[in-house]
Amino acid sequence: MHDTRKTALIIGASRTLGLGLASEYLRRDWNVIGTVRGSGRTGLHDLADASAGRLTIESLEMTEPEQISALRDRLARRTLDLLFVNAAITRGDIPIGDVSTAMFTEVMVTNALSPMRVVESLRPLVAPTGTIGVMSSDQGSIALNTEGGQDLYRASKSALNQLMRSYAARHAADTRTLLLMDPGWVRTELGGPDAELGVEESIPGVAQTIEHHQGKPGLYFVDHLGQVVPW
Ligand SMILES: NC(=O)c1ccc[n+]([C@@H]2O[C@H](COP(=O)([O-])OP(=O)(O)OC[C@H]3O[C@@H](n4cnc5c(N)ncnc54)[C@H](OP(=O)(O)O)[C@@H]3O)[C@@H](O)[C@H]2O)c1
Repeated sequence: MHDTRKTALIIGASRTLGLGLASEYLRRDWNVIGTVRGSGRTGLHDLADASAGRLTIESLEMTEPEQISALRDRLARRTLDLLFVNAAITRGDIPIGDVSTAMFTEVMVTNALSPMRVVESLRPLVAPTGTIGVMSSDQGSIALNTEGGQDLYRASKSALNQLMRSYAARHAADTRTLLLMDPGWVRTELGGPDAELGVEESIPGVAQTIEHHQGKPGLYFVDHLGQVVPW
């Protein structure tokens, strides 16, 4: 029988928010493709084992362009209803004057350039009514930056937002929905132990916000409660 389920591709689904998103889309009866890097076993492998074949795992180190092209080639016959780039890094709260060139390059390449390379490369796989989402952060909001801190991480998410605006302008006639998502402050390795929310408190709202915008072309910077985040 023909499988009529929708399909989500989640980039960076090994743990925490990405893993939570994969789990949420399985719960919503979608097929899910999740990426991990390296050959180690992750929480996504446990989820796949319990998914009755609805979750498949692909390998992607997002900072390697040839791995992005290889993933696109492997998925060439698939149609995605959602492409969601979740992966990102932080390297700690260091004032920008103390950040090394190597660290600056690593965070910018990982958080700003690589997600855009994924979006540019995998875009043809996304259905015309589908959604391309990227995990941003309210820390990427220039308007909300009144307290400073996390200089490099903030700058990388602002750069990501700016690059998505350029992408949206370049593809102004595109019928796909574009989302920059702020998941809230969530207890993960990246968010730290003092964050306000657990993954299970953030992710249903993230998925709900994605669903709410489905079929609405244009670019939206929104949070897990569906609220607009100022640029
Ligand atoms: N936590 C928060 O409070 C918060 C707030 C706002 C926004 N966000 C955003 O939410 C997203 C997820 O954050 P998180 O808190 O869940 O972070 P996390 O626990 O550190 O997980 C990061 C994920 O990204 C993957 N990843 C990192 N670099 C990668 C690369 N070069 N190629 C492929 N995968 C890579 C990691 O894979 P490995 O397991 O292989 O390392 C992991 O799956 C990020 O975009 C983050 O900026 C988080």
